[in-house]
Amino acid sequence: MSGLSCSATAIAHPNIALVKYWGKADIAENLPAVGSLSITLGGLATTTTVAFDPELREDVLLLDGREDTAAVRRVSGCLERLRRRLGTSLHARVESANDFPTAAGLASSASGFAALVVAAHAALGGNLPREELADLARRCSGSAARSLFGGFVELALTPEGPHPTTTRQILPPEAWPLEVVVAVTATGPKETGSTEGMLLTERTSPCYRSWVRQSPADLAAAREAVASRDFEALAEVSEASCLAMHGLMLSARPGLIYWNGTTVECLHRIRQLRREGIPVFFTVDAGPQVKAICLPEATARVEEALGTVPGVVRLLSSGLGEGARVAG
Ligand code: PMV
Repeated sequence: MSGLSCSATAIAHPNIALVKYWGKADIAENLPAVGSLSITLGGLATTTTVAFDPELREDVLLLDGREDTAAVRRVSGCLERLRRRLGTSLHARVESANDFPTAAGLASSASGFAALVVAAHAALGGNLPREELADLARRCSGSAARSLFGGFVELALTPEGPHPTTTRQILPPEAWPLEVVVAVTATGPKETGSTEGMLLTERTSPCYRSWVRQSPADLAAAREAVASRDFEALAEVSEASCLAMHGLMLSARPGLIYWNGTTVECLHRIRQLRREGIPVFFTVDAGPQVKAICLPEATARVEEALGTVPGVVRLLSSGLGEGARVAG
């Protein structure tokens, strides 16, 4: 590599898990205790430019136009892995922006770290396979590996393989174009971050072992539902995985309550819609926002129903999209 600065820009989309990941098998390696299955949301994007510069003494991060001296540590940790892997000691200036509200509970860390890894790798002229980039992203944020791929994505635990996790697309977005309506029920940061919440749950919940034991069966059911485009089967296993994860969180000591009253009202409204024959189901992550997944013909009806739940601050709608990629 020459002494000149080298830069690249990447785009990545957030993803939401239908079969959830909660719990770590190895905290130092950020290795999940369970696999997960997600969809990538094409309508929302993070754009990140990484410029390696021999003049820089440390990494610099600008998030949505402002220097972020707290988040830069995690970004630096991620860049450090890539630097070691590709044999460079250059520091970088990272500029990242989301076109969706960061406080919307939309896993901006997933799209953020996916875009970071892809941009930094391109800027350094690397030619690592995508599976390895996904495993690198997974070490920075568990859900980020899934944003490396588009459509329906599975992150599997592969202790016997070349990497401890393997992430891959199981169905492209155009093969089953589901839609997602996000009901934002509160703004502001969540009280307990996911890593802290996972460690507390593992340490204190009597339900943790059965949660880990159940996961392979849920993954198999979801994989099968996706392969056969069986909406009802996907709805059943996704809601079960979501509710089991929140039941697990509630059973920690002290219990983790990520929902507010509006969250619960939205879940009832979605169940009501399904009883009326509307193809829609819900999922909720470590926060109070509700994600309604539906067939395209139901989107307007779902938006109308969730938009009138008292306490819903705003709705965001998205189709499925592609994996992280270099822009331009
Ligand atoms: O990637 P993390 O560490 O933010 O954890 C994600 C955890 C959930 O969003 C609750 C579930 C998931 O699989 O995305």
